[in-house]
Parts: sequence; structure tokens; C-alpha cells
Amino acid sequence: MKNIALTLSLLFSFCMLLAQKKLTVHADKIIAPVSPTMWGIFFEDINFGADGGLYAEMIKNRSFEFEFPMTGWKEIKKDASGKILIQNTGGTRSTRYAQLTVNANNGGYGFSNEGFRGMGFQKGATYNFSINAKKNSGDVKLRIEAVNSAGTKIGEATLDKISTDWQSQTISLTTTDTAMKGKLNVWFEGIGEVVVKRVSLFPKNTWKERTNGMRSDLVQLLADMKPGFLRFPGGCIVEGRDLTNRYQWKQTVGAVDERKTMVNRWNMEFRHKPTPDYYQSFGLGFFEYFQLSEDIGAEPLPILNCGMACQFNSGEVVAMNELDPYVQDALDLIEFANGDVTTNWGKLRADMGHPAPFNLKYLGIGNEQWDEQYIQRYAAFHKILKQKYPEIKLISSVGPSPDGRLFDYAWKELKTLNADIVDEHYYAKPEWFYQHVGRYDNYDRQGPKIFAGEYAAQSKGIAQVSNQNNWQCALAEAAFMTGLERNADVVTMASYAPLFAHADAWQWSPDLIWFDNLRSYGTPNYYVQKLFATNKGTHLVTISENGEAVKGKDSVYASSVLDKQSGEVIVKIVNASANEVAVETMIAGVKPSGKQARLFTISSTDKETVNSFEAPQAVAPLTEMAAVKKNVIAITLKPMSLTVIRIPVK
Ligand code: AHR
Repeated sequence: MKNIALTLSLLFSFCMLLAQKKLTVHADKIIAPVSPTMWGIFFEDINFGADGGLYAEMIKNRSFEFEFPMTGWKEIKKDASGKILIQNTGGTRSTRYAQLTVNANNGGYGFSNEGFRGMGFQKGATYNFSINAKKNSGDVKLRIEAVNSAGTKIGEATLDKISTDWQSQTISLTTTDTAMKGKLNVWFEGIGEVVVKRVSLFPKNTWKERTNGMRSDLVQLLADMKPGFLRFPGGCIVEGRDLTNRYQWKQTVGAVDERKTMVNRWNMEFRHKPTPDYYQSFGLGFFEYFQLSEDIGAEPLPILNCGMACQFNSGEVVAMNELDPYVQDALDLIEFANGDVTTNWGKLRADMGHPAPFNLKYLGIGNEQWDEQYIQRYAAFHKILKQKYPEIKLISSVGPSPDGRLFDYAWKELKTLNADIVDEHYYAKPEWFYQHVGRYDNYDRQGPKIFAGEYAAQSKGIAQVSNQNNWQCALAEAAFMTGLERNADVVTMASYAPLFAHADAWQWSPDLIWFDNLRSYGTPNYYVQKLFATNKGTHLVTISENGEAVKGKDSVYASSVLDKQSGEVIVKIVNASANEVAVETMIAGVKPSGKQARLFTISSTDKETVNSFEAPQAVAPLTEMAAVKKNVIAITLKPMSLTVIRIPVK
């Protein structure tokens, strides 16, 4: 009797642990194509994402354009004397110069650059140094030294001649040791006067070994996601704290030395994270963003200022009768991206090395704007852009909140205007993401499409310093993303935000990818994004349990697509509970073509788990195989897991 009771109680506990679910994929009932742009990337120059991050330039303030021209620089001398004078020639482009009077017959005089929170040097790697300078008088040689944090030299190169005309010269050095927080000493030797316009140092190993290139490890992480689009350059950076400091794409193209440095709006935005040395050199400008999009197979999605500064800051607007130059910027950008090489802006693109068009199809008007002032300005852009370029899909904003009066107002107006794609943002606690898995189930199918343009679960609260990129947040996002996918007939684009953060110089957390001057890693959130994007499929089909969408019963969430290219049904299942869940998935309407399915699983039983430089893949996908019996795949979902199943079908 005792034994029976024990067996029953064990059985009972087992049933409690292992919920049983039977799901059906109706693979022959296609609801809609999945947009090729479904899962993409949001890039903004926040957290040292561009300068000091993706943009591989290692010299901070390379043209002395920061408010304090010697920021990042330090005078150095050895058995010598000298003087550094900053000149400004005036004008709208880059205009500052450093004039060095050098008295170093038996020693050296010059300056040292600290990089972006130090410079990362890899043992055995080659670095290309370049200087745009001229000699006014005398005879001066140049010697550069890479040094580690203790000041020990780990690489050196010399340049014997500085011409009396402006000249950009390049030399290379190879480092004999690794340094995480090194710096570069630039020594002038001899007696004379030199004027320096720009000092630059790039690793040779940039992405595709381009000069003025990007960090290859960071681009690789992006390319691995196979993103459908790349949104750039933000974010609030598009808006600026005031209109004078808004992002203007025309200032970011053409000769790199002429792009005028500007303060980065994130430098002092958060009192708890001031970064007064955060500026935008625009070495990574619109041409480079277009090229990056092309390199990683993503549709370029530029966002332009719509005549409004950030409404969280000054909220300045340009008067409606002065909006034309802003609209003209948009027209010119389309010409820059797509125009024939005989057009003004198309020619500039060709001169910069890309005669073929970039094939721009999407354009964002304003970032996170709201209220009447936005709708008026958007309407003006919409009218002209639709007349001239009806094929370009415009992205419009409904503000920073996912609901509320301003959100509802903007939606109503944008529908009336026949807007193409509306950009919704949600930064919220993980619970919000579970609660809103069905957010788009009842959205109007005849109205504008949705761009879930910025979202991220916040473990503590919006942009709190203690926010973590932990598994709890990533799993909540995964559950929410099954809801986005289930509504792929109306949601056509989605991207996590922000993208990058420098571990020693960030302002906003959480972020998708963290890096320092030598290393980088994807967060659990990154691996969720990557699993969705690399298993995007081509057509949406339903997955159900007893005829109902799988959206939270027993803490299980699921969506399904067909990949007509590879001939597979793809199922994504989130088990948000702390227990295992046994799931049988039946494929209806088509026949499995093999006896095995591929499984990709991310899980952790500890919701606090994060990835780190030391353990970059603490939470990352594992690949396994599962048996397909007739048309059924029976698997046990791990506790707190995301599982992607790929089933080959006929
Ligand atoms: O992603 C960080 C910021 O959040 C973006 O710049 C802005 O659009 C949003 O408020």
C-alpha cells in the first residue's frame, strides 16, 4: 500500500514537472510571406558605438576638433623643448591644425594619444599610421612608438621626411606584445616647425582590410546575424539635443579629412555616466553605412532629421516655412544612394568608390518624435517624397511609448496619411514582453506595416546603470518575438536596441554586443536575435495547440514559418517555465522528407546568467538532432529555453 502511494506520488510529481503538449503546424496554409527585412539591426553612435567602437580609428580627437583641442593628447618631450599651438582657419568643414615648434636635435618632442580608454594592440598585428602634415621650416623627422600601459615600447616606425606641401603619408608598425590600454607616442626629431592636420592609426586588419575601415570582429558579429536591414545612424543622435547639433548626413560624406567633428549628444546626457570626450568624427559616415549594409547583405535604412530636435531635450523645431532644406536633404540622400553617376550626388557616391547604386528602398523621417509638430512635418516630407520617389517606403514615428495618448494620436494621423511603415519602440521590464506577446494579433491588416524599431527588456528599469543583459531578459524578448513572427503579415521589421557598448565608455545598458579595445562578445539577447534572423524562413504558417495560438499557456510560446528556399518547416518555441516541457509537434499538410530535424537550443536554468569577456558563450545556442517519426517530432524543452526546430519537408 505504502509502495503504491509512493509510486503515485512520484508519478504525480513527474507529471507536475513534465507538462505534455501537442502542437500542430499547418504547413500548407500560408498566411503571408515573411518580409526579408523581418529581423534587422539598429545602429546608433551611443556607448562609443562608432568612434571608439565599430569605426576602427584608434586615435581620439585626430584632428584636434574637440572643444578642448588637446583632449586625448599630451605633450611629450625628451631632452628637447617645443611648443604646440592650435590654429583655426575658420569655415564650416574641419578647420583646426596643430602647429608644433620642435627643438629636438638630440631628443624628441611631440604628443601622445591615449586612444579611446586606451588603445588595444594585439601581439604580431600590423597598424597603419598616417599623418596629414606639412613642414613650415627646418628639418624634422617623425618617429612613432606604440607603448603599453607601463610605457614600454612594443612597436616603432619612422618617417624620414615631412614635405613642405600638405601631404598625407602612411607608415606601418608591427607590435611585439599585446596591450589592452596602450597609447601612441608621436615624436618629432630635429629642429623646425610642422603643422599637423590629422593623425590616424588603424589596425591593418579592418573589415575587408579597408582604409578608413571598421573593426572586423564587430562587423563579423553583425554579418553572422544575417540581418535583413541596417538602421542608421540612430536613435536620438539623428535629432540632436538642439537643431544645430542634429545629425546631417551631408557632413559625413566626401573626403574624410574634411568631415567636421561634432559633439556626440550622448556625451553628458546621463549624469551617472558622463563622457565629456565623446564626439563624432564622422569617419564612419553615410557612405560607410551604405557600404556596410551591402557587405552584410542588409537593406540600408537611414533615418533623417525631420526638422525637430530631441523632444526629451530642447525639443526645438524648424518653422514649417523653413522646412525645405530638410526635405531637400532627404531628396538628395535618395540621389546619393540610387542616382545615376551623372547626377550631383550620384557622382559623389561614384567618386567615393561606389558607382553602382546602393539600392535604397527605405527611409526614416524623424526618430522618436511625437505630437502635432511631428505629424505636420512628416506630412510635408511624405507629400514630396511620394511624388518624386513613390517606390521608397517611408518609416514614421509614433513616439517613444508603446501606448498612450500621443501614441494613439500619431497612429490615427499616420493612418489618415497612408503611412507605409510605423516605428514603435518598447523598453520595458521582462514581464511586459510576456504580457504583450499578442500585441499585434488584432492590428489592422489594411493599415501601415509595423517596424518594431527599438526594443529591449530592462532588468531594472529604462536605461538604469544596473540593467543586465541576462537570460531572463533575452528569454522574454524571444517569447515576444514569437508574437512578432506570428504577425509577420503586419510586422515587417524588428530590431533590438541599442546595438553596441564599450565596456569602459558606455552610457546606456542593456546593449546587444559588448566590446573593449581588443575583445567583443554577443549577449544572450544577441544569440536570440541571431537565432530568429538566421531562421527567418520565407512564409508564415500557423502553429497551434487545440486550434489556439501558442502564446503563453503553460508558459510556452511558439511561432512557425516555412523556408521555401531550403525546403524546411521552422518552429520556434519558448519555454519560459522553470520545468521541462514535453512537446510533440505534428507537421500537417506537407510531408517530412527525412528522419531527422535540426534543433538549436539556448537555455540557462539561472535567469541571471550573462555572457562576458571571460565566458562569452555562457548562454549560446547548442545544436542537436531530433528524430522525426512519420510527421511528428517529440522533444523535451529545457527549462527556460528557446528552441528552434528545422524539419526538412517535401
Ligand atoms: O536606444 C537608445 C535610445 O532610446 C535611442 O537613441 C532612442 O531612439 C531611444 O529613446
